[in-house]
Order: sequence, then C-alpha cells, then structure tokens
Amino acid sequence: MADQAFVTLATTDSYAKGAMVLGMSLRNHNTSRKLVAMIGPHVSEPCRAVLHKIYDEVRLVDILDSGDTAHLAMMKRPDLGVTFTKLHCWTLTQYSKCVFMDADTLVLYNIDELFEREEFSAAPDPGWPDCFNSGVFVFRPSNETYGKLLTTCSEDGSFDGGDQGVLNSFFSDWATADISKHLPFIYNLSSIAIYTYLPAFKQYGHAAKVVHFLGKVKPWDYSYDTTCKTIKGQSQDASDMHPNYLLKWWELFSSSVLPLMKEEYGDQPFNSGCMESPIHEVAKKPHHPPPTQMSSQERKQKWEQGQADYMGQDSFENIEKKLDSFLK
Ligand code: UDP
Ligand code: GLC
Ligand code: MN
Repeated sequence: MADQAFVTLATTDSYAKGAMVLGMSLRNHNTSRKLVAMIGPHVSEPCRAVLHKIYDEVRLVDILDSGDTAHLAMMKRPDLGVTFTKLHCWTLTQYSKCVFMDADTLVLYNIDELFEREEFSAAPDPGWPDCFNSGVFVFRPSNETYGKLLTTCSEDGSFDGGDQGVLNSFFSDWATADISKHLPFIYNLSSIAIYTYLPAFKQYGHAAKVVHFLGKVKPWDYSYDTTCKTIKGQSQDASDMHPNYLLKWWELFSSSVLPLMKEEYGDQPFNSGCMESPIHEVAKKPHHPPPTQMSSQERKQKWEQGQADYMGQDSFENIEKKLDSFLK
C-alpha cells in the first residue's frame, strides 16, 4: 500500500484550495493509500504548509512550459496550457501505481478499489465519450513513459491544448481495447452531466463517488456564508432536490480546511495568499462571478463551449423547472 498513492496538482493558491479539500475528502473516507500533491513554484508558503498537513508528500515540480524539459515540445504549440504540468506525475517512480485526481474533484466515498485497475484507466469525457476525461485516471509512474509522453507532445502537440488531448493521443486504444480500463462514470461525475442527461443523473447519480467541478467556474470562485452555511446567490431549496455538491465542497472547506489555514494565518482575516476575505463573514469573494446579464445567444454559445453557469443561471433547479414546464 505504501507504494501506491493518490496524486493531484496545484500551480496556484486557488487550485491549492481545491487540493486541500480533495485531500481532506480522501482522508475522511479513510483511504489507505499515500497522498501526494504536486505544486508549482507560485504556490505561497502558507498554502504549502497547509498542504503538508494533509498530504504525505508535497512535491515541487516545474511548470511545463518553455524553459524546462518540455521546451522543445512547447515551441510547436505556444498555446499549450499549464495542465501539461500534470504529466510530471509519471516521474513519481517511488510509487508503483497511482490515481491522479484533478484539484477540482471531491471524493464522496472511499475509492481505494481504483487501485485494482491497470494503467491506463479513466472515465469517458462527457463531451466526447470516445475520449477519456483526464481529471481522474489510474497510471504507473515510469520515466520511460514520461519521456515518451514528452515526445508525443513535441511531435503531435495536443489537440485540445492541454494534457487531456496528449493523453488521449498517447493512450489511443483506450476507447476500444479493454473495457476494464473504462472507469464507471461515477468515479468522475462532471457536474455538466447533470444537465446533459438529467434522467440518467436521477437514476444513477446517487451512486457517484467522485464529483468533478469541470469548467471555468470552480467552487472556490463562490462565496460561502459560514454562519448560514449557504452559498451566496443559491436558493435554499436547490439542495433539497439533488445532492448539492458545491455546498458539500464548501462545508468540507470551512469545517476541515479553514481551521488548518487559521493555524497558518492566525486569527487575522486572510487578506493575501490563500484567502482574500474575512473568514467569519463570507469565506471567499468570487474571482469569476458567473455572468448575470447575458443574451440568450451568448448563453447558448457558453453552453456549447461547455461553460454552462451550472451553479447559477443554468442551475439544476432552473433547468428542471424549464423541463417540467415543457413536459406539462
Ligand atoms: N491546474 C493547476 N493550475 C492551473 C490550471 C489547472 O494546477 O492554473 C491543475 C489542477 O489540478 C486542475 C487540473 O490542472 O484541476 C485541470 O484543470 P481544470 O480542472 O481547471 O480543467 P477542467 O477539468 O475544468 O477542464
Ligand atoms: C479537461 C480535463 C482536465 C484537463 C483539461 C485539459 O477538460 O477535465 O483534467 O486538464 O481538459 O486538457
Ligand atoms: Mn478539472
């Protein structure tokens, strides 16, 4: 067991908050595996200290962009994103098998059974199910594989500009070769799927083990009222109708992560680094507040780009109301 680990990545303090909540969720569900957080050089000292309290190992990695081993790879695709840094996970060779999880995922049940799977196992992407989503995957660290992945980067680039494109090109037989490498969707339930196939969500959603807050707006972009235990701008009855994953994320953040952060920052309001607003009032000011006034054309465009405002205007509650009005 000591040679198996859950691995995540955070290159900024915002994603570090996600990593803290993810790590806590794995601990709360009694994982027997090691927890490893890969961080970039821009993660602040207090955030690193908090990560050290939750994770067994906090590993500083280079941002994969021009200027390091992936330099040549990047030259061909200047638009490639920071998510290439994820590929560093193959260099964690002190572990024989790992499960990578995006920092915007939240674990709802123990998922140690994922270690029974082989490289490369992942769940289908909700947007194109013949591709896997690279937010949760089982892999075997290997410097050889790492080298080959970088070669793929330099020769073919990434069709989506991020790690998911490269990984799908590299593990290109995933869709057809071995069904045991298709993780059930419940290990990477993206909130988007709630809207794209609502009846299936109603039928199977209760079994979800991992929620993935895929998309531009992340849980830490919202504000949480620690006194009322509500997300600012969300109506109370939204949580009565379906599991409110966003609220779950914030509950865990405020009950388990905030106390650790307070140890680092003292009782002062967190005005820099990890926190931007006083913790006793509203725990977080939105970075990217969901657009309030958008034309329906703009909104349609956002939907088509996979950027539904699924926690606001396009919330489960609103969509369900709309569907109900059609069905009536
Ligand atoms: N990530 C990061 N810093 C960034 C962007 C991404 O550390 O600036 C990491 C983080 O682990 C994140 C993952 O890369 O969860 C993939 O990005 P994201 O989750 O934003 O992509 P999405 O799942 O929304 O497509
Ligand atoms: C995806 C995945 C994410 C990945 C990104 C870039 O949407 O959810 O894990 O990093 O694409 O390829
Ligand atoms: Mn993600």
